[in-house]
Amino acid sequence: MIKKAVIPAAGFGTRFLPATKSSPKEMLPIVDTPVIQYVVEEAVNSGITDIVMVIGRGKRAIEEHFDRNFELEGELERRGREEELEAMRAISTIADIHFVWQKEMNGLGDAVYCARNHIGDEPFAVLLGDTILDSATDRPVIGQLMDVYDRYHDSVVALEEVGWDRVSRYGVMDGSEIDDGVMQVNDFVEKPDREDAPSNLVIASRYVFSPQIFDCLSRTKRGKNNEIQLTDAMHMLLSSRAMYGYKFRGHRYDAGNKLDYLKTNIAFALKHSDLRSDVVDHIKKLALEL
Ligand code: G1P
Repeated sequence: MIKKAVIPAAGFGTRFLPATKSSPKEMLPIVDTPVIQYVVEEAVNSGITDIVMVIGRGKRAIEEHFDRNFELEGELERRGREEELEAMRAISTIADIHFVWQKEMNGLGDAVYCARNHIGDEPFAVLLGDTILDSATDRPVIGQLMDVYDRYHDSVVALEEVGWDRVSRYGVMDGSEIDDGVMQVNDFVEKPDREDAPSNLVIASRYVFSPQIFDCLSRTKRGKNNEIQLTDAMHMLLSSRAMYGYKFRGHRYDAGNKLDYLKTNIAFALKHSDLRSDVVDHIKKLALEL
């Protein structure tokens, strides 16, 4: 049973300056909820009970978000706002959440490596803290990957098919389908040029790893962008263990760049019954004006 998850949330968020000058990109709201809360809920609704967040400088707001706020609770109680009070308490008891610090920005691989002592010798999930994966089934996306892990007993990554013009933004997989949506991986390559990409199936922000990944991470040298890349450690892991990809059932909302962030806000606003019709009216009005 996979019970632990790592959520790397240490990146600078330079694509959102000045909003992220003093507040973490993971705290940017989608309608009324910070991106990282959706990510934590995905993990918890999949059966994860123990979460390690890897944070860096300027990320204290994330700690505070998952802590109790007694003043706020007192105020909501005085005003009789029971529903909000319940919701605020639920955030601080949602899971056993721990924080570890990535002291230098050495890349995603290094961030995951920072969680090694807490994870120990067991399989674990990784969810990138700036991306929401909205499942098309009752099972959240990381839960879908955990189910594949239970079947094959080796690491699994979420895969998404993207246009060939976008492959160089991602880690790319080389492999072949062995079951419905399940790929046997031959190789991974981080952000290749379009001509060198082995496929247009890319790594989509969710992973389940066997603990051997830590040994690979400890030996991974700096790669693309002079950072320690998780994808390079996965390439290394393939020499000793099988790895699988899963074409997850759902939609990926990347909240890490401006355009996709705005699209995500609109998509989620349309899911709110109290906002939907006003948002639709507004978009129609804008369309007529353009
Ligand atoms: C990271 C990974 C990359 C992956 C992407 C989206 O890149 O290095 O392999 O495809 O996340 O999950 P980043 O977006 O941090 O540059």
